[in-house]
Amino acid sequence: MPTLVSSKDADVSDAKATAGKQPESRKPRGSTAEEMASGQREIAVSEFFAKNRHLLGFDNPRKALLTTVKEAVDNSLDACEEAGILPEITVEIGQKSETRFRVTIRDNGPGIVRRQIEHVFGRLLYGSKFHRLKMSRGQQGIGISAAGMYGLMTTGQPVVIVSKTGKQQPAHEVILKMDTSKNRADIVKETEHAEMDELFPQGHGTQVTIELEARYQKGRQSVDEYLEQTAIANPHACFAFIAPDATRLEFQRSVKELPPEAKEIKPHPRGIELGTLIQMIERTECRAIGSFLQEEFCRVSPSVTRAICDHAKVKNTTTIGRIGHAEAEAIFKAIQVVKIMAPPTDCLVPMGTKALLSGLLRGVRAEFFSASMRPADVYRGNPFQIEVGLAYGGELPKEEPARILRFANRVPLLYQQSACCSWKSVIDTNWRAYGLSQSRDSAPEGGLVVMIHMVSAWVPFTSESKEAIADYDEIRKEMKLALQEAGRKLGIYLKRRARMRHETDRRDIFERYIGEISKACEGITGTPAKKVFDALTRLAKTKTEQADQDLDDEGNVVEKKLEQDDNVVILAERIGAAEQAEAPTDLIPEVRPTKVSRPAAAKPKTPKRSTPPAAPAQTPTVPAPFRVKERKAPEGGLFEEGK
Ligand SMILES: Nc1ncnc2c1ncn2[C@@H]1O[C@H](COP(=O)(O)OP(=O)(O)OP(=O)(O)O)[C@@H](O)[C@H]1O
Ligand SMILES: [Mg+2]
Repeated sequence: MPTLVSSKDADVSDAKATAGKQPESRKPRGSTAEEMASGQREIAVSEFFAKNRHLLGFDNPRKALLTTVKEAVDNSLDACEEAGILPEITVEIGQKSETRFRVTIRDNGPGIVRRQIEHVFGRLLYGSKFHRLKMSRGQQGIGISAAGMYGLMTTGQPVVIVSKTGKQQPAHEVILKMDTSKNRADIVKETEHAEMDELFPQGHGTQVTIELEARYQKGRQSVDEYLEQTAIANPHACFAFIAPDATRLEFQRSVKELPPEAKEIKPHPRGIELGTLIQMIERTECRAIGSFLQEEFCRVSPSVTRAICDHAKVKNTTTIGRIGHAEAEAIFKAIQVVKIMAPPTDCLVPMGTKALLSGLLRGVRAEFFSASMRPADVYRGNPFQIEVGLAYGGELPKEEPARILRFANRVPLLYQQSACCSWKSVIDTNWRAYGLSQSRDSAPEGGLVVMIHMVSAWVPFTSESKEAIADYDEIRKEMKLALQEAGRKLGIYLKRRARMRHETDRRDIFERYIGEISKACEGITGTPAKKVFDALTRLAKTKTEQADQDLDDEGNVVEKKLEQDDNVVILAERIGAAEQAEAPTDLIPEVRPTKVSRPAAAKPKTPKRSTPPAAPAQTPTVPAPFRVKERKAPEGGLFEEGK
């Protein structure tokens, strides 16, 4: 039975209950500084990134797979190039369960010495590229250890590394796990193998195996796409890809030489901030400020040193110890005004327009290709260079917006397109001026691929996952200028093509009636129809050919420029491949694609021509500019399927 309690009794019991809680309500709200101090402690960088894995590109299983492959392949390419070895890289993805994959990446690089293996793979922010100023794919010292950490977090499985540094050296197999609370590696097992020839036939290389929660799916932003684009930007490398369904895709190298070696440079004085300058002064081993400026920076000659010191009212022989905050600030201000040469650019190795064009030719089934490369420029003291390639028409889908292929230091960037400076430069460019349609704040439309490549000693990525280039004014300006240069050539081509179509239509109309006219003339004047036909045909040709030559605003000169331009390729056989239905036949010259597959389009409607008695067969006219640049399309796609 429920106990009945009177209101008085209830008051009493309430009072008792409150009395019990009293000490708590008197306690001041919040914690004391002492209490807070007990909770304050260092956070290991690995703990931070384990919580914020999306910052490293591990925000979903599909992207995690791509990031893992990308980090390992980028490292392999960097290592091979640094060692002067033509890269041969194998990527194998094995599926263990629906959501679990085992990724193995093997290279023929120089290998990693045993004592460094645990640091390279077991510590975040540990690497050889962060402190130097030289173009390379990696720069942060996070990539591969983060991939290993993600694998460990999602599957509990350690990373397996096999590395061999030379024919005479044993291969080391190290199995390790990262201790995220310490940002250090725990070695699970290590084995020495005297021979490992089946893995490293050249006697050196590295193999990394990571098991992770992931999803494999082909298409945009996939491992396949990353490898395809990496192959475009690295024609000197060869790749083999074994997909989860055991299909093997291979991409052979098309260039047998390594790109020239990028040289390491010292920082440029204009690129550093006051705080960094003060730190450098505190840490330098130079004795005097003059020698410090010359030794620690590039482009500071004795005369530049004198100019800086004079401007800062400091003697260049002043000992470093006597340089205080005021002097450092004066030197910093002087650096901003004194004339100093731009940093050297041999730390950059752009692809070059030729390689860029040949990469696009292999990967994109277009009819027109143009490329442009800007001279090197500087942002925040870091040298950088922009190169751009355009591919238009051919078999590219006409209705879709332009596809943008973004690269930084030869690495394809597949995510965060709209946050990237290169995207902004594309939508900033007025493509309508080059004959393409474009809506406000969008990419141009209609069968266009835009490739933008930035090379820099330090690429300013928007986050640690290295997916988008930060929007610096200097970088955007250079990208726009490069796009405009290549775009102008496309514009000339498109105007010419439109005009050519118009002229071909005119010629067809002439030709349609010439036969009838010749016969009528013979009836009236008695001149043989064949003679009149030949004369009129010649006349029609000259008229339309003349018009062909006055194609654009700049007239013949421009035509010659396009013909002679090494940065333009026109594949005559692909012209109008996607729009054959409307294209008059004469637009497609004699060289018709034999191996290039065309979209199943209806046969073009050719106007019926009248044939005179014994008239010579009409040969399709190939307008001059298209003959000059005619080339055979490369066969096959990027990858050939193997056994
Ligand atoms: N396959 C490899 N062969 C030789 N050295 C390697 C290989 N992979 C990694 N390394 C070494 O390990 C270091 C760390 O690699 P990691 O990917 O973590 O950082 P990173 O490449 O320097 O920079 P990022 O974080 O931008 O990728 C590299 O700097 C390189 O010296
Ligand atoms: Mg790396």
